Amino acid sequence: MLKKSIALMLVLVVLSTLLVGCGGPGKGSAKLVGVTMPTKSLQRWNEDGANVKAALEAKGYKVDLQYADNKQDVQNSQIENQITQGCDVLVIASIDGGALGGVLEQAKKAKIPVIAYDRLITNTDKCDYYATFDNYGVGKMQGEFIVSALGLDKGEKGPFTMECFGGDPGDNNAGLFNKGAMDVLQKYIDSGVLVVKSGQTKFPDQIAITNWESKGAQDRMDNLLTAYYADENIDVVLSPNDSLAQGIVASLKSAGYGSADKPFPVLTGQDCDKINVGQIIRGEQSMSIFKDTRVLADQVIAMTDAILAGQTVPTNATYNNGVIDVPSYNCEIKFANKDNWKELLVDSGYYQLSDIPDAQ
Ligand code: BGC
Repeated sequence: MLKKSIALMLVLVVLSTLLVGCGGPGKGSAKLVGVTMPTKSLQRWNEDGANVKAALEAKGYKVDLQYADNKQDVQNSQIENQITQGCDVLVIASIDGGALGGVLEQAKKAKIPVIAYDRLITNTDKCDYYATFDNYGVGKMQGEFIVSALGLDKGEKGPFTMECFGGDPGDNNAGLFNKGAMDVLQKYIDSGVLVVKSGQTKFPDQIAITNWESKGAQDRMDNLLTAYYADENIDVVLSPNDSLAQGIVASLKSAGYGSADKPFPVLTGQDCDKINVGQIIRGEQSMSIFKDTRVLADQVIAMTDAILAGQTVPTNATYNNGVIDVPSYNCEIKFANKDNWKELLVDSGYYQLSDIPDAQ
C-alpha cells in the first residue's frame, strides 16, 4: 500500500513537472501580459481584444485587457498601471501612435517588451515589435477594386465622379491606407477618367475623419452631396474602413440613393463588420477588406512566446516609425464582396450566419 502511494506520488510529481515545462508558462509562474485596445465602440476592437485574451490565456498567460474610449491619455494611464502591476509584455493598439511618449520611457526603464498591435507606435525607440496587416496593401486592394469594378483596366474612360475619405490622422495606418489607394487611383484622376468634383483629395487636410467616426463621415458626405452632387450622381466613394462606410451609406440613403435613377456608388470598406456585411448583401456597399483578427492574435502570441523564451521573433517586414525600423509581421488580407462573403466569413467559422443582418 505504502509502495503504491509512493509510486503514485512519483508519477504525479513527474507529470506536473512535464506540464509546467510544456508550451507557455506554468500556472504558478504565469506571465502577465498587458493588452490595451483603443475603444469598445467599434466591433473590430472588441473582437481583437477578446481573441488576443483568449489565445493568450489558452497558452497559460494571465491577461490584463483594457479599453480606452479613444482617448490616448486614458490609454497612457492604463499602460502605466500595467507597468506598475509588473506586466511581462505590453501589447498596445494605440489611438494616437505618436502620443505615448512618457509611458514608453517607463516601459523602457522597467525593461518590458512592447508589441505594437495593428497600429504602429511612432516617434520613439521603444517599440520593440509590430504585428499588423499589410496596411499599404489594404489601400492598394481598395484602389484596385475600384479600377476593376469600373472597368478602367479594360479601357473604360468614364468619366466617373468620385469622392475620397480618410481615417483618423493620429493613426499611422490611415496614411498608409490612403497612400496605397491613391497610388492606384491618382493616374485616373490626372487623366480625367475619375472626377473628384469637390477637388478634395489630400490626406489628412481635406479628407480625414477624426476618430474614424461614422457620424463624421455621414456629415461630410451630406455636405459633399449637397454642394457638388445636386444635379449629378456620385459613382464612387473611396472609404478606408467600415465605420466610415456606415456613415456614408446612411447619408446616401437619406439623399435617395438605392433606386434605378440613383444606384448606390461603388463603395469600399475594411474590417468586414457585421453591419457592413449586411450592407454588402443589400448592395449598399461593394466590398470590405477582411482582416482575420484570429490570425493577428496568433501572431501576437507567437511573438510573445518567442520574446519571453529569448528566441528569434517571427517577422516578415519592417516599418519605420520616424526613429527606428521596427521589426514587424504583416498578416495577409483578402476582400469580401457580394460573391464571396459567405465562403470567406461564414464557412471559415469567423461569423455565424445569424450574426449578419439580412443573411440567409
Ligand atoms: C485599423 C482598421 C480600423 C480603423 C478604425 C485602423 O487602425 O487598422 O482596421 O478600421 O483603425 O478602428
